[in-house]
Amino acid sequence: METKNRFKELNYQELEQRQYIEDVRNMAQRPRTYHVVTYGCQMNAHDSEKLEGMLEEMGLVRAEVRDEADFVLFNTCCVRDNAERRALGNVTWLKEVRKQRPDLMIGVCGCMIQEPGMAEKIVKQYGFVDLAFGTAALHRFPELFWRALHEKHVVIETGGDDVIVEQMPVRRLRHDAAYISIMQGCNNFCSFCIVPYVRGRERSRKMERILHEARMLKEQGCKEIMLLGQNVNSYDSDGTGFPQLLTALDEVGIERIRFMTSHPKDLSDDLIHVMAEAEHVLPQFHLPVQSGDDDILRRMNRHYDRKHYLEKVRRLREAVPGIGLTTDLIVAFPGETEEQFENTLSLVQEVGFDSAFTFIYSPRTGTAAARMDGQIPKEVASERIQRLIALQETCQRKAMERFVHMKESVLVEGFSRRSSEEVSGRGKHGVSVTLPGTEADVGKIVDVTVTGIKQNTLIASRLD
Ligand code: SAM
Ligand code: SF4
Ligand code: F3S
Repeated sequence: METKNRFKELNYQELEQRQYIEDVRNMAQRPRTYHVVTYGCQMNAHDSEKLEGMLEEMGLVRAEVRDEADFVLFNTCCVRDNAERRALGNVTWLKEVRKQRPDLMIGVCGCMIQEPGMAEKIVKQYGFVDLAFGTAALHRFPELFWRALHEKHVVIETGGDDVIVEQMPVRRLRHDAAYISIMQGCNNFCSFCIVPYVRGRERSRKMERILHEARMLKEQGCKEIMLLGQNVNSYDSDGTGFPQLLTALDEVGIERIRFMTSHPKDLSDDLIHVMAEAEHVLPQFHLPVQSGDDDILRRMNRHYDRKHYLEKVRRLREAVPGIGLTTDLIVAFPGETEEQFENTLSLVQEVGFDSAFTFIYSPRTGTAAARMDGQIPKEVASERIQRLIALQETCQRKAMERFVHMKESVLVEGFSRRSSEEVSGRGKHGVSVTLPGTEADVGKIVDVTVTGIKQNTLIASRLD
């Protein structure tokens, strides 16, 4: 049987990248400041933390303002056409900045560079870019950066293997909450999705390495970890699955554990059991359904149907009463009829999600769905998404009512947008909460009682 642990593990500290780091550091003429612009999902955000870690080791410091940095790096996403267009639009804008500051260095990396033909496009249309590399070459960034500083032409790297790299430098965005990647890549090939093509095959990190990272974070005072993977339910390290990993992490004693994303086809009773029993695993679950129609789900290659999904939701709610449930939804998948779309609406109504990310289907070159007949006209797609959003807002508001008068605990993230005497953060169920507070509360967990709802936020008073 194929094992998911056949992938090579590299220790960053033993790679020749360390030499490149030293060489760049010692260069008299090199960029002094950097700014990384991140698009896309949490995995990309975490990759950016690693890129920033490597940049800091090379002696650069972060510039707050993008256009003032000596080196600007765009970490791109290509999951939908608009993500890609936004990134390329911003890269183009920097060409203008460079006219004023000829020394400005520009890099583009991430999922978009891993798309077939994109490297050629960069050379042809964005010749002013100094450096472009894909997700598989992330750990080789110091070497590529060194080459870009020494070579006159654009440095492009689209190759690389599906490896696991441990011990990479990381500059974490927050100290109270941290990402831990537990696996990379995806083997699911949902027919609409480009991720398996740009992130490679599924590979899980060894459980001991993950536990070690969690223990270090706990020592540093971290209060919440978010475990990352495209499909955490298929985590498999030498036969250890996700429920066992969660149980072991629960014992580390970090106050809050979250994870994403779960695929409904692999959500096991064992995991539901751990959700109910574990002390630190938060009562929230992101379970993307994509569509409420069986024929669409089949053509999306999702390997579950509506009934199966609703059954998983029922079991989750039975095991963890009041659990926060969120999802992803796609409208206007090729061939989607009005009736099939209405099946999505009825599922949204039936479940009552706490929030949902809603997307218009975007054809991605190379995926199975992009070759399907029946692509839906733009007008129909935007009319459908508006109806879906309106319904979700109504359902969301209703779902949130269950929190009123309830006790919650909130990890405070910062000031609320509405007032300087209020702070906001996330409750255990994943919903955003606003409470009275000051800067001293940021990074702390505060117990509250929910008193009301304003838009998509819970309003609360403090218990301390
Ligand atoms: N691995 C996760 C899963 O299976 O749910 C999701 C990863 S993907 C980065 C996040 C979401 O983007 C998906 O759940 C899907 O709703 C959406 N998405 C992916 N490809 C898309 C496409 N071609 N058009 C529109 N939305 C898309
Ligand atoms: Fe994309 Fe499906 Fe993999 Fe999620 S599970 S990343 S939607 S192919
Ligand atoms: Fe994430 Fe976008 Fe890549 S959603 S995995 S950054 S294509």
